[in-house]
Amino acid sequence: MKPKTKLDVTKAEADQIRMRVRAVRTIDGDNGSSRLAVIEDAAAMLQLLSDERVSGDVYTLPRPFSLGSIRAWIIDHQKQAKDGVGLLMVTDDDAGQIITITDFQFWPEYAACEFGGVIAAHLQSRSVGTKGIAHLCDWVFQVLGVRLIAMTASPENVRSHKLLDKLGFIRMGEMDSVRPDGSVRKSLYWELMGRSLHENIGERP
Ligand SMILES: CC(C)(COP(=O)(O)OP(=O)(O)OC[C@H]1O[C@@H](n2cnc3c(N)ncnc32)[C@H](O)[C@@H]1OP(=O)(O)O)[C@@H](O)C(=O)NCCC(=O)NCCS
Repeated sequence: MKPKTKLDVTKAEADQIRMRVRAVRTIDGDNGSSRLAVIEDAAAMLQLLSDERVSGDVYTLPRPFSLGSIRAWIIDHQKQAKDGVGLLMVTDDDAGQIITITDFQFWPEYAACEFGGVIAAHLQSRSVGTKGIAHLCDWVFQVLGVRLIAMTASPENVRSHKLLDKLGFIRMGEMDSVRPDGSVRKSLYWELMGRSLHENIGERP
């Protein structure tokens, strides 16, 4: 996917975003921090994604799930991180279980990114997604210098629609999302230009 809006970006700005993405190791948040996925996480990630309540709706995941497909996904993202164009982040709970996975794709040439994520079933529908995504939007704008976020969701994913609308993302029609196996899914498409989102969910930065 590429963003529908293509901002004019100088080579220096694009290089700076790439450099900042390359430097990411963790993302600190109010509810703990996420960290780069490493190959040793593959089994725990497989366990989380094998729950269809978690992974069912997400088109970017490496299906069919197996230790091999998830290891390859992690390795591919390690290369993307080195190139400054992608990040695969996970969050652990206090018991060491992985409870969120977030997959970022950056287009430094447009100062833009998209990200998609999953939350463990027992934490869904408790505002974790709304707060977490608001925080990640602020982070990509303020820390990485991204200026535009593009998001997609399946037509059925009501929680994502509500969440993106609430955070101030603008609906901009549909888009074909291409799964890793090459098949195509119709998605709804949103964009947000950079600014703080805390005000949209009634929180102070
Ligand atoms: C989609 C997801 C990220 C949303 O995060 P979440 O923490 O579960 O959602 P929230 O509790 O923040 O709720 C978001 C909105 O959906 C509403 N909502 C929650 N549960 C709902 C339900 N079962 N049916 C309809 N609306 C619901 C909330 O009320 C809120 O809307 P509001 O702010 O207008 O009140 C999370 O559920 C998830 O990981 N799902 C599985 C993977 C997935 O679909 N990822 C997104 C791919 S685009």
